[in-house]
Amino acid sequence: WPVAGLVVAIDGPSGSGKSSVSRGVARELGLRYLDTGAMYRAVTWWMLQKGVDVGDPAAIAARAGEPSLTVGTDPGAPAIAVDGVDVSGPIRGPEVTSAVSAVSAVPEVRHRLVAMQREIIARSLETGGIVVEGRDIGTVVAPDAPVKIYLTASAEARARRRSAELAGTTVERQKAELARRDTLDSTRGISPLTKAADAVELDTTPLTLDEVIAEVLRIIKERTGPG
Ligand code: DC
Repeated sequence: WPVAGLVVAIDGPSGSGKSSVSRGVARELGLRYLDTGAMYRAVTWWMLQKGVDVGDPAAIAARAGEPSLTVGTDPGAPAIAVDGVDVSGPIRGPEVTSAVSAVSAVPEVRHRLVAMQREIIARSLETGGIVVEGRDIGTVVAPDAPVKIYLTASAEARARRRSAELAGTTVERQKAELARRDTLDSTRGISPLTKAADAVELDTTPLTLDEVIAEVLRIIKERTGPG
């Protein structure tokens, strides 16, 4: 079925499986892939490198225009660089993870990154389509996306997945960390994590990755196919 010009918006909380699902779907359909969380993480990494006080929103806002991001959209090898430095590894570290909610709550950061995200989407549509994952894709970044998915999973399942990905942590610690980030991400004043009215909600708790990918492909087909 036609995938040219297709934007698939995948939103949901941390640990809902967004990244693995989005990459799998993009690979399956030959689409580009944009990880918007990586962009917020890259800006956070830069702020920490520069010694910006991430507890001070005004300090973050004042420097929000400085970091220069290069964002890859290959679902097989997503990469991101700041000021020419590949930060794909460091942005997954605990320092960035614990500061990213504060940085991503600053309007100046969001305005700049949302504009970049829309440009990346527009560029990818010239040659095909794109799967975009984040917290505000269906609501703010791409409100006209023809397919919107909202992934959820139980707190236990999300913490288990996260601790399987990270060395040196426990399910209990991850549960507390996810709860902290969920609260920050869904109660912030600007673009909080919410399900778009026209998004399909999918609870991934009882499903394997392949099952979630198959279900998302089915939803895409249903929404974009004939009839
Ligand atoms: O998906 P992730 O865990 O890599 O996202 C990191 C943080 O970035 C997350 O805590 C909230 C923020 N984020 C956001 O505010 N908006 C997005 N579209 C994507 C991520």
